[in-house]
Formats: sequence, structure tokens, C-alpha cells
Amino acid sequence: MQHDHILILDFGSQVTQLIARRVREHGVYSEIWPYNHADEDRIRAYNPKAIILGGGPASVTDEGSPRAPSCIFDMGIPVLGICYGQQTMIAQLGGKVEKQDHHEYGRAEIKVTHNCALFSSTWTEGSTPTVWMSHGDRVTDIPEGFEIVATSKGAPYAIVADESRHYYGIQFHPEVMHTQNGSEIIRNFVIDIAGCKGDWTMAAYKDEAIAKIREEVGNEKVICGLSGGVDSSVAAVLIHEAIGDQLTCIYVDTGMMRKGESDQVVKLFRDHYNIPLIHEDASTVFLGKLEGVSDPEKKRKIIGGTFIDVFDECASRIGGAQWLAQGTLYPDVIESVSYTGGPSVTIKSHHNVGGLPEKMNLKILEPLRELFKDEVRDLGRTLGLHDNFVSRHPFPGPGLAVRCPGEITKEKLDILREADAVYLDAIREEGLYNEIWQAFVVLLPVRTVGVMGDGRTYDYACALRAVTSADGMTADFYQFEMDFLSRVATRIINEVRGINRVTYDITSKPPGTIEWE
Ligand code: XMP
Repeated sequence: MQHDHILILDFGSQVTQLIARRVREHGVYSEIWPYNHADEDRIRAYNPKAIILGGGPASVTDEGSPRAPSCIFDMGIPVLGICYGQQTMIAQLGGKVEKQDHHEYGRAEIKVTHNCALFSSTWTEGSTPTVWMSHGDRVTDIPEGFEIVATSKGAPYAIVADESRHYYGIQFHPEVMHTQNGSEIIRNFVIDIAGCKGDWTMAAYKDEAIAKIREEVGNEKVICGLSGGVDSSVAAVLIHEAIGDQLTCIYVDTGMMRKGESDQVVKLFRDHYNIPLIHEDASTVFLGKLEGVSDPEKKRKIIGGTFIDVFDECASRIGGAQWLAQGTLYPDVIESVSYTGGPSVTIKSHHNVGGLPEKMNLKILEPLRELFKDEVRDLGRTLGLHDNFVSRHPFPGPGLAVRCPGEITKEKLDILREADAVYLDAIREEGLYNEIWQAFVVLLPVRTVGVMGDGRTYDYACALRAVTSADGMTADFYQFEMDFLSRVATRIINEVRGINRVTYDITSKPPGTIEWE
């Protein structure tokens, strides 16, 4: 790798990925490794400019709790410890950490007691910034060479520094948005203290990714499944720039796409980008297999399995392909640190067409596997994809099937498509689309009585869903103005035949999930 890079060691915190994103926002490439898979040889071979130790749920005071590999303190490079990372660094270097009865979560005010390179651009002695804390234990004594540079009521050692060795320990989380100037602290560490150049830009990434794809693929053929989503689209355009018509895309229309979606995909890729594209309308096959099935998991499994069969058949028509391109992202490949060791419960079996590579016996090309979602969007813009396209809300693999609880019929899907189009149109008109993570209509398997004009109606009810989220793992329902909701309800009932009642879903995740099935 030609760019400077930072290694982040993960101790299991929910927000470690944010550290990597903040570092990369300053043009510095970073990777996350589990602390216990980072042996000395591997770390030295990776040759990071600096190391960041992330937070975690364990207690440094417990026997057998995680420790940073001790070699990192012999490498002569800067180390930043955050929360648990601060505590283990201090403990490993000869300081003390103690359990506290009083835990501290949420906003807190710290007081800067000395100037320090970590916050030289923003705070000076006497500043009282607001930060975000989340800790039970705290440092109670520091190793030789360290000094306290900021303090707070709950954490007297809020920031400690050994400026000569470039070791810094922060009790709060600079990576979360609620910490004032948190991003500058990360910048100061990676640019000023570690001396990284900050030249990892999307334009550079694009050129390097293209060169790498050319080298990997040579003159072999690649196929890529398009879903209409951002990841597979960006992967396809990038690969096409690299190897031109050695790439063929396959778009399987499951019949569960949104209104106009299939046309848009075909127009964009075949007509605009001139990418060879197989457009397979398999809606009758999918609907046939789903007839009479109402169990959510069975629906998902049938769709996943049918997709693999149809895709495989389309690919065999191309002949001679050795590679399958996939839009895998960095969060899918980060190894996670597990303390429970037990298997996690399957909430939903996701449609990530995992069975495809095994069935087809192809090599896998994953040009986005180092990127976070927002970076993929940036790369898409760099490749000339329109902002309307790259900023699109996520759409689940099984499509409208999971927004149509109960048995699926073409009639129900058509009604849902119309209502969904009206809802999204209203959201765009109101300028709210980019504030919302995902918005969609769910067609309820219930008919209700209504009155329109002088007549009785007996039609479907629908639910509107809109959530805000950072990553889809947790979500809050979006707080629309009542007036807006009332206008949307009126439009749907007037414009969509088959719906006579509109409700708004105010469930967050957890306890709900974003999709209804
Ligand atoms: P849930 O409903 O589990 O959804 O809260 C979280 C996010 O994942 C999307 N989703 C899927 N994405 N394949 C995907 O690639 C799937 O099978 C799938 N099911 C749900 C959902 O739209 C939301 O963004």
C-alpha cells in the first residue's frame, strides 16, 4: 500500500467503526483488527504510522481481560488509547485503573488543564468542551512520563499524555458526533502527531482500484449481479472502467422491485454506460414459487434460492466467465471481537446471495471490500454516477416481498408499488429524502371499511415507515410534521386504488426491525 495507514485495534466497542471512519475522513487509510488476532509479526509487517486502541465492554481490573499486544510500545510509533484503550495502555505501562461504583454515560464537561498537541488546534488551557463518556472503570494513577492534560468530575484523568513518546489516552469517545471537536482530535493525532500525509482520497482510490482489477482479472471475463442498489452499481461501473466489455452484468427482475426501477437500471447501465447487460424478467417464476407462502423466513429462503437458480442460468448463457463481482463492503469483512462466544440468534436470513460463488465455482472480485458505505457513495460520485442515484435509500434483497406481510400476489405488489411511489415523491418534494435513512410503504394484509364519496369501500390498509439511522443496526422513527403525514395519507387514498386507510409506524429498532419481515 502506497499510503500511510493507521491500525485500529478493536476491543469490542460498538463504536470502533466510527474511529476508522473519522480517520479516513482526514484522508488517512485505516483498518480495524481484533486485538487478539494482531500478533507482533503481522503488526510489524503492516507497518502502521500509528496505532489506536479502541473501547470495549471488559474491565481492565478483571483477570484475563484483553490487553494490547505489548510490541506496540516497542515500535517507536504514536499510540492513542480511547476509553478501554486508554485504561489498558495505562495499566500496561505501569499506571492504575480502578472499578468505580458510579458509572458515567452520556454528555460530560471536561476542563483542559494543560496545552497538548492532541488538541492544539481547538482547545487551550481553561477550555471546557463537552464530550461523550461511556465508562465504569477509570484511571487513578498514571505511568512515569505521562501528565494529566484534561480532567472531568467523573474522570479525573480525562486526557493524559506522554508527549515525548507520543502516547495519548482519552477516557471519552472523540469518534462520536456528540464530542465537541472530536474529529479535530483524531486529525491532530493522525496528521500532526503521526505525520500521515492525508492523501487517501476517492480519486486516488479509484485509480488504484482500477489498476488492481486489471492486474487481478487479466483478460478473463467477469459477471456482476446488479440489484439496483448503490453497492452493486458502483462496483459494476468501477469494474467496467477497468476492463470494459470483459464485464457483463445480470439484472434479475424478481417482480418485487419498486415502480419504474427495472427500467431505470436497464437505461442507466445498458444505454448510458454501454455495459453489456442481461435483463431477465423472472417475475412469473418468483411469484409462482411464492404462491400460498406467508411465513416470512420461508419467503426469504424461496427468494434467495430462486435468485441463485435464475442467476446461474443467465450466467451459463454468457459462457466462459471466471469471476463473479460482488459489492461486499468493509463492515461485512471486519472480524468482530466476541466475548460471549455463543452463536448469535438469527433474526432474519439476509438475501446476500451467499450461495452463488459456491454453486458457480467462480473466483470472487470484491473491489469495495475496503470501503464503508459513505465512501462507496463518494466513489460513485467520483465515477460520475448521479447524486440522486448514489444517495438512494438502502433496499433489501428480497425487495417488496418483505414489505407485503402474508401471502404475496401481483395485485398486492402493484398496489404497494403505487403507494410507495406517491410516498417517496412527497418526501422528495418536501426536501426530506436525504434526512431519512429509509422510507417505504408496507401493505398490510388487512382490509378495512371506509367511505368515499357516498359509497362504502372495503380496501387494504397500509403503513408508512421512515427511520433515521447511522448503519441500519439501530434506528429511530422519523418525526414528520402531522400536516405532512396528513397530506401523504390523502394523496395515497386519492391516487392509489385499493388502499383506503393509512397509518404511520412509530416503532424504533430495537424493539422493531426496519423492515416488517
Ligand atoms: P432490518 O429489517 O433487519 O434491516 O432492521 C436492516 C437493514 O437491512 C436491510 N435488509 C436487507 N439488506 N438483504 C440486504 O442486503 C436482505 O435480505 C435484507 N433485509 C433487510 C433493510 O432494508 C435495512 O436497511
